[in-house]
Amino acid sequence: MNSSGKQVKSKQRVADHGEVFTAKREVNAMLDMVKEETERIESTFLEPACGDGNFLIEILARKLKVVAGRYADNQLDYELHATIAISSIYGVDILEDNVRECRHRLNSFFLEQYKKLFPNTCKEECKKSVEYLLGKNIIWGDALDYKLVEDKNVFITFCEWTAVDEMMIKRKDFTMQSLLTNDVFAEIADSYDIDDFLPPDKEYPAIHFLRLYELGE
Ligand SMILES: C[S@@+](CC[C@H](N)C(=O)[O-])C[C@H]1O[C@@H](n2cnc3c(N)ncnc32)[C@H](O)[C@@H]1O
Repeated sequence: MNSSGKQVKSKQRVADHGEVFTAKREVNAMLDMVKEETERIESTFLEPACGDGNFLIEILARKLKVVAGRYADNQLDYELHATIAISSIYGVDILEDNVRECRHRLNSFFLEQYKKLFPNTCKEECKKSVEYLLGKNIIWGDALDYKLVEDKNVFITFCEWTAVDEMMIKRKDFTMQSLLTNDVFAEIADSYDIDDFLPPDKEYPAIHFLRLYELGE
């Protein structure tokens, strides 16, 4: 099902892009196969054909439940860990409307949870940083040639967000091509930090998590 409750938007989209949405029950049954990971705040998930986010929204819901369980009594800690949870969720889709809808769904879900816990004290900077993260992590791209749809000269770039020094986050950029075509990385990626083996294409100074949106681009 997509966010409007349909499994198919049009026959043309099925024919052109194989677009058939997965129902919530199946999504959860599959996620239960890696249940521990879905409940680990910082575990990384990438959906390379994410549609409007049926898998990603359930992963976010599971992670935010854990964040709320641990940090609901301290707003700053909740904000930091919710940001970490969101920053480790990635998606790619070839259709622009799916990408927009996916970002919107994840953002709305976060806002709903955040406002429920802190109805009078939600911070604009936190909302802006989460929106910024989703803009970077949910990518309008072609997962088969690793390039952006809007500019076929540009490779898809994933930003790795690492929490350092309590409230700070460090961004390192890796192209999808370098991640997937690196033989050494492919063999050991499961067990180690990416940049022990693969230098980032670009890195940024650490920044407070509530100011992430200031990184721009
Ligand atoms: C079967 S649907 C699955 C959508 C979503 N993962 C779900 O389970 O509800 C496949 C998705 O892949 C996207 N897609 C097709 N070819 C793609 C490509 N080369 N790169 C990225 N996304 C692609 C389609 O737009 C569609 O949203």
